[in-house]
Amino acid sequence: MAAWIASKINANSAASPRVVELACGAGFLAEFLKRHLPDVRYCGFDLSPDLLEFAQRRLREVPDERRESSDLHFVRANLLSDNWTAQLAEMGWSGKVDAVVSIQALHDLGDLAQQKEVLTKARGLLRKGGLLAYGDLLLDAENPHSSRYSRAEHEEMLRQCGFSIPKPSTPDRARDGTCSQGYAAAAFGDFGTFACRI
Ligand SMILES: C[S@@+](CC[C@H](N)C(=O)[O-])C[C@H]1O[C@@H](n2cnc3c(N)ncnc32)[C@H](O)[C@@H]1O
Repeated sequence: MAAWIASKINANSAASPRVVELACGAGFLAEFLKRHLPDVRYCGFDLSPDLLEFAQRRLREVPDERRESSDLHFVRANLLSDNWTAQLAEMGWSGKVDAVVSIQALHDLGDLAQQKEVLTKARGLLRKGGLLAYGDLLLDAENPHSSRYSRAEHEEMLRQCGFSIPKPSTPDRARDGTCSQGYAAAAFGDFGTFACRI
């Protein structure tokens, strides 16, 4: 999924894309982006200081040819209750961003209304033509989870947030097995991936 997101950013951005990750956890996607898009400017938000510390350590180990101009940030924020969009400006990121991304995290934010709240704020950060790309666990009848939703529900939520969904939607499901963390996607139910531009 990290490779899928990196390729979407690459296809949609000029040099040095500015990328915000929602609920970045321990920085697996950040590491992948840093290795594969070395010019990336990145800010990951997460609730957990411990995971952010892991993420910072992980990124310190990635060789950085542009150490002087490195623009990578891990910021603690509750995406539901903190003014995290303002935190970007406070750390010196003025203007819009090229991409907002997330992996297997939206369901942890809460129900559809809460996820919608966060994605609406995310939309406000994006430049014209900017990209929202995320993957998350879909509703799985055999493994019910109160914050997992169907592809149709995700798409409707995105429409309500003001994103346009390409038609027909591209069902890039991670059915083939492995993700960057090395687990079989099937063991976690069904992932859905979503990408749209404003
Ligand atoms: C399943 S983990 C996924 C982490 C990361 N995206 C990954 O793939 O490794 C979900 C993450 O959501 C974060 N999280 C949950 N609720 C949050 C909130 N309200 N605001 C910010 N982060 C939150 C958790 O701290 C956790 O890191």
